[in-house]
Amino acid sequence: MRKKIIAGNWKMNKTPSEAVALINELKPLVANDEVDVVFCVPAISIIPAMEAAKGSNISIGTENMYFEESGAYTGEIAPNMLTDVGVKFVIIGHSERREYFAETDETVNKKVLKAFEHGITPIICCGETLTQREQGVTIDWIRQQIKIAFLNVTAEQAKTAVIAYEPIWAIGTGKTATSDQAEEVCAAIRGCIAEIYDDATAAEIRIQYGGSVNAGNAAELFAKADIDGGLVGGASLKPEFGNIVNYNK
Ligand code: PGA
Repeated sequence: MRKKIIAGNWKMNKTPSEAVALINELKPLVANDEVDVVFCVPAISIIPAMEAAKGSNISIGTENMYFEESGAYTGEIAPNMLTDVGVKFVIIGHSERREYFAETDETVNKKVLKAFEHGITPIICCGETLTQREQGVTIDWIRQQIKIAFLNVTAEQAKTAVIAYEPIWAIGTGKTATSDQAEEVCAAIRGCIAEIYDDATAAEIRIQYGGSVNAGNAAELFAKADIDGGLVGGASLKPEFGNIVNYNK
């Protein structure tokens, strides 16, 4: 049985002191030991967020990292900077990073490999545009994103990865994919992992749905066979996140 994993993606929101206040507010609301709970926060808030989350079930992750060890990469964050302060999860290849910061399937693959090298679990994002969905190429597109993201990743590593399927048209729009649409793609992703590796790897990897997840739709989405939780943007910054994490209560 795969344990559900529900992660908040804070994006570029909350100052470090606001982050501490929000974690203190949400801490009692997200207590649910049946689910892995991750707050992916802006890099500057990682340390105070760790401190605020101490003693709770919240793991602190972040939203990006670079694929080199160190050196002349002004403005970037190295993987060992994250592990040094105890970061266990990093979002890789979010569609906003692909759109505004020129990330590609190839840089996503480099980051995924580097995260594994350092023992950080990547939350690997994939997703189609509305045009791609309308053209009927969603599954082909997602399969290609997955195949490139997992190049040279071993089966042992892949088993521990998290994939977030986030249709771009559903992010921040209030337009959620139906649970059937989300399940169709998450099942195809699991099938793709089985093709690259084997059934055992596919059975272990966790696949989230993301895109306007809220307290009203979480239970239906997370009940689907291949949806192992969610990556939540807007609603992760509100008390509502507690209801999403406790979707099964
Ligand atoms: P949203 O964002 O929940 O606000 O749609 C999801 C995401 O971008 O990860």
